[in-house]
Amino acid sequence: MISKKMYDAINDQVKHELESAYIYLSMVGYFHSQNLDGMAHWMRVQVHEETIHAMKFFDHLTNRGASVVLQNLKQLKTNWKNPLEPWKDAYAHEQFITGKIHDLLKIARKENDYTAEPLLNWFVNEQIEEENNTDKICRQLEMIGDSKEGLFMLDRELGARVFPAGSSFDPLAYNVVA
Ligand code: FEO
Repeated sequence: MISKKMYDAINDQVKHELESAYIYLSMVGYFHSQNLDGMAHWMRVQVHEETIHAMKFFDHLTNRGASVVLQNLKQLKTNWKNPLEPWKDAYAHEQFITGKIHDLLKIARKENDYTAEPLLNWFVNEQIEEENNTDKICRQLEMIGDSKEGLFMLDRELGARVFPAGSSFDPLAYNVVA
């Protein structure tokens, strides 16, 4: 039986993860509008990762006999002044999510919730990668500065990110790409 405090915090985290997907989907639209299709692709893969994160928490509650109550997502930013700004926002957002995961782990320890701890430990490690990915791209863009060639090359590189195996979000899986 999950405690009320733990339930509320995990239920909130379902929203935070879905909000992450929503934020990054907004960035997909922005990058396409700037003809940065590689960055748009990278973010599209990230949208899928965030949905998987949300479902991990969703399934955790379901498997413990609790039912998720979905909440409203907040209004999003839809435009940025240059390609670096969304990456900065993404890095800041990942730091926010890391804080939320750490708070969840604190609650689990306080509530002696040994069932939630392995899931939360997975997320503690995952957040190292989540922060590092977005921070590294920020630093690369800062290094590139005003170089159009540099931006073009980075965009090409980010376009090579692969979807998780078997992902239903992979365009190849629903025949969008010939
Ligand atoms: Fe689900 Fe990017 O943290």
